[in-house]
Amino acid sequence: MTEKEILEWLREVKHPGKGDQDIVSLGMVENIETQGSAVTVTLGFPKHRDPLTEYLVGSARAVLYRQTPYGTTIDVKTVVKEEAAPKKKNKVTDLTLEELGQVRHIIGIASGKGGVGKSTVAVNLAVALARLGYKVGLADADVYGPSVPLMTGTTGMMPEAEAEGDKEVILPVEKYGVKWMSIGYFASEGQALIWRGPMACNALKQMILQVRWGALDFLLIDMPPGTGDIHISLVQDIPMEGAVIVTTPQAVALADVEKGIDMFRNEQIHRKVFGLIENMAWFTPKELPDNKYFIFGKDGGVKMAERFGIPLLGQIPLVQGIRECGDAGEPSALGSGPDGVAFMELAGRLAQETEK
Ligand SMILES: Nc1ncnc2c1ncn2[C@@H]1O[C@H](COP(=O)(O)OP(=O)(O)OP(=O)(O)O)[C@@H](O)[C@H]1O
Ligand SMILES: [Mg+2]
Repeated sequence: MTEKEILEWLREVKHPGKGDQDIVSLGMVENIETQGSAVTVTLGFPKHRDPLTEYLVGSARAVLYRQTPYGTTIDVKTVVKEEAAPKKKNKVTDLTLEELGQVRHIIGIASGKGGVGKSTVAVNLAVALARLGYKVGLADADVYGPSVPLMTGTTGMMPEAEAEGDKEVILPVEKYGVKWMSIGYFASEGQALIWRGPMACNALKQMILQVRWGALDFLLIDMPPGTGDIHISLVQDIPMEGAVIVTTPQAVALADVEKGIDMFRNEQIHRKVFGLIENMAWFTPKELPDNKYFIFGKDGGVKMAERFGIPLLGQIPLVQGIRECGDAGEPSALGSGPDGVAFMELAGRLAQETEK
């Protein structure tokens, strides 16, 4: 194994946040040492905290295991370039709950089902709670399909990092009176992030635990669809007080949503379910604002709330404006239309439930 060979192999490791350039071209390989059957590679990261650190280190390790002869000892280290200190910092395992110390309520916005409007509800609830005078943050926990940057018009913003003692914290993006954080800020636009399970979990924890949230009344966590390992690990590792479950009235959605509720009520996890939100409860066309069409069925969420004995926090209509505002990055909770009012009422109800 020569240094040159190793460098060639490392070209396979692409940085998804830098237009898929490889780590060699990006000048991130600081040092390669071979000694007998041991290889030590040191990757340099800029001072600015790169949330993909764990992912890149893992990928480099995987490539080296594949290319080197069986039995080779492989070590991939990281250095912060500016300081050139070979000190390992900010390993995910070192993350603590310190940054969440001044957060009063940490609430997951979840559903077993995809596409029911979790992100839409989470973003609008955050804005509405802020309008009610609460201090609010939102962490986008969907590392595969982050939607918060688009829905808040903050795509392309780059959160700053700041040294705090011997560690670094990421400063959230602020807009509409809310602190936002998403893995989307660290990847190029339109780029699909491909994570292996543990990497996704680590990136996610960094997105929540390494952020300077400061004093908050509410930290909402926009959960990805499903009830898999990533969810369970998230709920276990983050001191989430409870969840709000989003559903549509449709029977199919309701079956998946039951799984979502079970996930939080499960014995090992055991978190509160603050309430249910029925999204797309009916359709109202703009030109006929008094008409309600129950296209996904009527009151499915209401019945489910009754059955599970959880409060129904509200019903949100399906209106074109909600989708348009989401795509335009101006949440409808900012406005005074019927949809804006519905989100404000929802926020009031959630605040009431959590302060009980
Ligand atoms: N009440 C509503 N009225 C109109 N459009 C809506 C409404 N709720 C959500 N949408 C639209 O439906 C789509 C899916 O919503 P959203 O992304 O919030 O769902 P999700 O549950 O977060 O999805 P995923 O499971 O992929 O994370 C979006 O285009 C959104 O704008
Ligand atoms: Mg979503």
